[in-house]
Amino acid sequence: MEGNGLVRRFLFFISTVILLVLLTLLSLPTPPSGDKAAVLDSSKNRFHLYKPKLLRKPAPRHHSVAVPLHPLDPLTVAEFNKVRSLLASHPLFRSSSTFALHSVALDEPEKQLVVRWRKGNPLPPRKAVVVARVNDVSHVLTVDIETGEVNQVETGPISGYPMMTMEDMTSAGSAPLANADFNRSITERGVDLTDLTCLPISTGWYGKSEENRRVIKIQCYSMKGTANFYMRPIEGLTVLLDLDTKKVLEITDKGRNIPIPKAANTDYRFSTLNSQQQMKLVNPISIEQPKGPSFTIEDDHQVKWANWEFHLKADPRAGVIISRATVRDPETGELRSVMYKGFTSELFVPYMDPTDAWYFKTYMDAGEYGFGLQAMPLDPLNDCPRNAYYMDGVFSAADGRPYVRSNMICVFERYAGDIGWRHSESPITGMDVREVRPKVTLVVRMAASVANYDYIVDWEFQTDGLIRVKVGLSGILMVKGSSYDNMNQVNQQEDLYGTLISENVIGVIHDHYVTFYLDMDVDGSDNSFVKVNLQKTFTSPGESPRRSFLKAVRNVAKTEKDAQVKLKLYDPSEFHVINPSKLTRVGNPVGYKVVPAGTAASLLDLDDPPQKRGAFTNNQIWVTPYNQSEQWAGGLFVYQSQGKDTLAVWSERDREIENKDIVMWYTLGFHHVPCQEDFPIMPTVSSSFDLKPVNFFERNPILRIPPNTDKDLPNCEAAAASA
Ligand SMILES: *[C@@H]1O[C@H](CO)[C@@H](O)[C@H](O)[C@H]1NC(C)=O
Ligand SMILES: *[C@@H]1O[C@H](CO)[C@@H](O)[C@H](O)[C@H]1NC(C)=O
Repeated sequence: MEGNGLVRRFLFFISTVILLVLLTLLSLPTPPSGDKAAVLDSSKNRFHLYKPKLLRKPAPRHHSVAVPLHPLDPLTVAEFNKVRSLLASHPLFRSSSTFALHSVALDEPEKQLVVRWRKGNPLPPRKAVVVARVNDVSHVLTVDIETGEVNQVETGPISGYPMMTMEDMTSAGSAPLANADFNRSITERGVDLTDLTCLPISTGWYGKSEENRRVIKIQCYSMKGTANFYMRPIEGLTVLLDLDTKKVLEITDKGRNIPIPKAANTDYRFSTLNSQQQMKLVNPISIEQPKGPSFTIEDDHQVKWANWEFHLKADPRAGVIISRATVRDPETGELRSVMYKGFTSELFVPYMDPTDAWYFKTYMDAGEYGFGLQAMPLDPLNDCPRNAYYMDGVFSAADGRPYVRSNMICVFERYAGDIGWRHSESPITGMDVREVRPKVTLVVRMAASVANYDYIVDWEFQTDGLIRVKVGLSGILMVKGSSYDNMNQVNQQEDLYGTLISENVIGVIHDHYVTFYLDMDVDGSDNSFVKVNLQKTFTSPGESPRRSFLKAVRNVAKTEKDAQVKLKLYDPSEFHVINPSKLTRVGNPVGYKVVPAGTAASLLDLDDPPQKRGAFTNNQIWVTPYNQSEQWAGGLFVYQSQGKDTLAVWSERDREIENKDIVMWYTLGFHHVPCQEDFPIMPTVSSSFDLKPVNFFERNPILRIPPNTDKDLPNCEAAAASA
């Protein structure tokens, strides 16, 4: 018995050891290689077999040794350095005392070359396009990186100035401190100069004071007691500064009686809250990808996901550029072209307060500040989910030296519990059918923080061929200091130009317009724009018990003016970009339509100076013939522009656009009447428009995708318990 007991104990010991070893082996972190995870997780869900990496860290990127692999790849660090040294020895720069490079970017090769290029072919010549100011004159140059040839580009009569450099913005903010009167104005307001921070505010163009020199206006805030200095404006104090010499030209100090709003309750940093103030409303949440992500990013910029392939890069002015977006046809397996290039071309943000310290606030964030330059590194787990991949931007400083903006773009798959398509049968048919497919999408995201405001731009690709372009607005309002701390003090006749959102703080009414450049190439570059007008139609007497119905009347736009579209709720249309020479099986032209949303339109007078500069928002949709020089809706030189080089001016030429290589422009608009919830920082407001296939596919392109089943998904509850 004794011996038996020993054997039993020994056997128990051995089996425990084996079990422990097995358990240890099974719970070892396994690489996210699809096969291994698949084999293991089909056994049972009891163990946490696949441990997702805490963060999908991007592969280490060696920017210093990066080489271009695709004709559209952005300039590499080595190429930036080459451009810089080529320019340094160029007579224009050699002989100058002062110069600044306002933009250095790839001069994209001609479209036909890019379209014909295949992986493995030699790259077309690599060129940079440089915007420089030399001795206070703006120049546009192209630099052939291989041959070293530098050419000056004919730009015509230039009104306006190039995008500011980061150095312009930084130095402008501190320049007023060199002025004793300015210092005195600040101290007289009771603000310690060490608590001061000042913002460079683009001036727009109104006439005399903006003529013949590059100027900027500076307004300041007290940083005392909060990170949210935007809520503590030193109201009415405006400094006009020469942006080239950094000399103060004029100081206007009109708001001395207006108190600086209190710092209390303005901070938005979680770390400043004590544990009683912190508020937890939901449990932690994230999505699982037991077999790893379904997308790859090849050659640094080529994104491949599900049925989509496209080229992705960062740009100092546009932010994100999507190129060569193609979708695989489920019938033929071929990759079909949808869009040659899409990006944020310009923003227009006019404030609605005509008084002295406010009238000029009519920002154009891409052409003035650089939408990409203002895109800060994304915050993993919060800006983008755990399964995100991050891409950097490489930009040029004013002296031509490249620098890396890390984690500027993220790419991730989204499953938000939405439905791709579904149908279930009611019992009245006697059939038991329930077919549902989950919707999984791929998101490309960036977030620009243009001073106080944050813009989140998403390009979301769906497997059904739809592309959703979404803009989210968050960040902090630009507010006005006020002597009122309650609405009961405000005379009924008085216009606040906004909403009192906290004591002494007015959120000023403003608009946001975000204009997208959409070079659609639907199955090739020659496309037409078709307005499918929905018309109220009456039946003839006696024809039908119905009196009216609506019918769809197709009008092909012949010239640009036919394609200037103001959206109308009671005279609606669909807007298709079709390829007239490619028909579906049953004879419809293949196409994509833009599905409008975010439809606020500018109410400013067309002759108001800001609206002339922002005239690209006069219509929500425009179509122009492709022209490589017409990409920036507000013009190449937007800063202090007079509106002579906008999309509206180009479109007035009324060029032919039927069955041609065309570009569609869409403007998302938001009116923003601030409310108290926007204080001290705004919950995100967003709107989006869609590019949706219309008769592009022969049938539902995701008919054959499988539904989710329990066995494909890890059991997170058990995993947590076993951990
Ligand atoms: C203004 O104040 C700043 C900060 O104290 C100081 O550095 C600067 O010299 C002052 N400017 C003048 C002209 O006194
Ligand atoms: C291309 O655009 C530039 C800039 O607007 C313009 O000067 C030129 O005439 C355009 N070319 C054509 C063919 O429209």
